[in-house]
Parts: sequence; C-alpha cells; structure tokens
Amino acid sequence: SVTKAGDYEGELIMATNATFPPYEFVENGEYEGIDVEIAEKIAEELNFELVIEDVEFGSIIAGVESGKYSMGMAGMTVTDERKKSVNFSDTYAVAVQSVIVPSGSDIKSIDDISSEKKIGVQQDTTGDIYATEDYGDDAIVRYKTGPDAVQALASGKVDCVIIDNEPAKAYVKANDGLELLDSAYAEEEYAICVSKNDEELLEKINDALAKLKADGTIDSIVSKYISA
Ligand code: ARG
Repeated sequence: SVTKAGDYEGELIMATNATFPPYEFVENGEYEGIDVEIAEKIAEELNFELVIEDVEFGSIIAGVESGKYSMGMAGMTVTDERKKSVNFSDTYAVAVQSVIVPSGSDIKSIDDISSEKKIGVQQDTTGDIYATEDYGDDAIVRYKTGPDAVQALASGKVDCVIIDNEPAKAYVKANDGLELLDSAYAEEEYAICVSKNDEELLEKINDALAKLKADGTIDSIVSKYISA
C-alpha cells in the first residue's frame, strides 16, 4: 500500500542525493543547500518534521513511487518521462546543463563534443539522458555522483562532464585546472516529485511553495548560495 501525506507520522521524508552544491550537499556533517532550506520551510508550513534520506539519484523516483519517501527534492528536472512515474510540484528554479572541460581542452564549444569523446555524467540525470541521446551510449561514462565524474575529468579519464550549471560552477571552483564552456547544453526546470497517489501532499507542497515565493523566502534562500 502506498503511503499518503497523512501517514508519515508527522514526518516529511525527503529523498535527495547530497552531492550537488548549492542545492544539496553535506558540510561539517550537516545537510545544507537551497533544496534543504526550502524543504525545511515547506515542512514548517505543513507542520511536519523534515527527515532527509541521502540516496543514489537514480533511486529517488522509484522510492517516491512506492511510498518509501514522501517527496524527492534533488535539483530534479521535470521531464515527460519522469511524469509517467511521479507528479511534480510547481517549479522553483531554472537550470541549464553545462559542460566542464580541462583548461586547454580541444573542446572549445558544444559543437566540438562528438561520439568520439568520452563524456562523464552523473548516472540517471538529465545530463546522462540527453548526452546518451545525442552522442550514443558508447561515448558516455556514468558515475555515481557529480564529484566522481569531475574527479575522473581531473585525472584525464573523460574529456568533459555534462552537468547542471550551478553544481558545475561549484565543482570547477573546488578543482584546479577545470573550466566551464560558455554555452549551455539544455534548459530545464526543477521541481519536487511526489507519489501519484498523494494528490493531497502535492497540493500542500504547491501551496507552501506559492507562499514562500510570494513572501520572498525562496529568493532569499537562493541568494545565500548563488550570487546574482
Ligand atoms: N537536474 C538533473 C536531473 O534532474 C540532475 C539532478 C542531480 N541531482 C542531485 N541531487 N544529484 O536529472
């Protein structure tokens, strides 16, 4: 049986993958980031206690579908394919897929990426899905996390990494010798996913998001992590 909004015993269980600054990451043993702070506010509005489960990105949707988690919030892009499995809240952020290369790379623009290259991605993300579509499975090297993909790039195992722009900036900042291409690869929108059987929770989350947008809470959380 699928768990419903009221059945979580006062908890809002958020599945995430906390390797994705500035949206979710671990610092000094604490979960931090834009999604974490927005989720805390939503939980407050709904009178739930926020519980964070840090899982592989690719297991979030299945866990939400089965009622293991009350929601998934992980810089998660709304896609038609995912909509077949879960409902998405109203969107709360926009993003683009960016390309990270080593300084001096022969990949100077998106047009230089081809099926001849080794392209690192976080598995099951839109970067993975779009790059696989565009360049073929053989060109793609999948890693458990963004930082793993970036490590592989830094040590020359792949030629570029395709990943969301804000994490990309954070990874480049944390690693010498890497840079971002100027042009964006794909545009997308982030939202929270909930079980299709939990319309009530979806509505409550949307109401909370609307309030947090209107009163400036979301903007002020975002500006703590992202400078305009
Ligand atoms: N926006 C991309 C997607 O939805 C990547 C999200 C990865 N998130 C994370 N917390 N690791 O597929």
